[in-house]
Amino acid sequence: MTREDYSDVTYMLEIHHPLMARAAKPGQFVIVMSHREGERIPLTIADFDAERGTITLVIQAVGKTTLEMQQTCRAGTSLYGMAGPMGIPSNPGSAKKVICVGGGLGVAPVYPQARALKQNGAYVIGVLGFRNKDLIFWEEKFRAICDELIICTDDGSAGLKGFVTDGINQALENHKDVGEVVAIGPPVMMKASAEATRARGVKTMVSLNPIMVDGTGMCGGCRVKIGDEVKFACVDGPDFDGHKVDFDDLMIRLRRYKEEERVATERWSETCRMRMVDGKVVPLPE
Ligand SMILES: Cc1cc2nc3c(=O)[nH]c(=O)nc-3n(C[C@H](O)[C@H](O)[C@H](O)COP(=O)(O)OP(=O)(O)OC[C@H]3O[C@@H](n4cnc5c(N)ncnc54)[C@H](O)[C@@H]3O)c2cc1C
Ligand code: FES
Repeated sequence: MTREDYSDVTYMLEIHHPLMARAAKPGQFVIVMSHREGERIPLTIADFDAERGTITLVIQAVGKTTLEMQQTCRAGTSLYGMAGPMGIPSNPGSAKKVICVGGGLGVAPVYPQARALKQNGAYVIGVLGFRNKDLIFWEEKFRAICDELIICTDDGSAGLKGFVTDGINQALENHKDVGEVVAIGPPVMMKASAEATRARGVKTMVSLNPIMVDGTGMCGGCRVKIGDEVKFACVDGPDFDGHKVDFDDLMIRLRRYKEEERVATERWSETCRMRMVDGKVVPLPE
């Protein structure tokens, strides 16, 4: 694999896997095990290149496994296992003008969808949101495929000062004929994006990230409420109609194992060259 770090907590792994690269479609994900005893974690296929035989993962270090991978997945190493591609590929639809919204790490998974829409002939407006300018990544990649790009930063250090919803509102004001919005990011951001488009009646697709275990529809861990129906994100999604998603239920379920996750991260940090300080994992001084 090759690797690039985008910030203290965000890193990109490009993995050589020709079969997976040929099979991958926008919107799909893989389940990765970094070592034999490792946890299986779902990660979106943020890019794929069938000619070079690579798939790209962009990962945020948030807990035990993603921190461990941040330490151990170096250029030239291999993952223990990777299952996929999983999930139903995104449907590029027939909309002629589309807004693709990525919030924080969500910028990576929305990229293959934006590229597929562009290849499908749509006019693509990108709206990317970051906390500040130091966290911006893939701006050039998006400029290459978007007809318009709006960068938003919470603190105004680059682009439009505000959240992605400000970018969505600006794009919808300027383009009354937008047929679809695709929004990927933290649940609270996807919920706000869906609310921003609801009144205007613009179809809005989101990609859900509930806790997953098997990824094959058998454990029920990734249960989500979509309108009156219960769906499993791993086999029925992960893309769903944002106007029907019960985001509050999703957020409650994501918090369910917080204490166990904290303990696992703390235990792991005690056995490696990292320590918990004020609830954050930091490297020990050399
Ligand atoms: C379809 C899908 C695609 C995803 N794509 C990406 C991606 O491209 N990049 C990325 O950085 N993260 C992605 N995630 C989230 C990623 O799987 C979790 O951040 C990771 O599992 C956390 O594990 P941990 O041990 O590092 O942290 P933990 O301390 O175990 O958990 C931190 C938080 O991550 C979530 N989480 C924990 N375990 C899981 C799990 N098995 N499945 C899903 N969420 C979990 C919970 O909200 C938890 O609060 C995706 C999740 C899903 C479901
Ligand atoms: S992860 Fe088990 S049912 Fe979806």
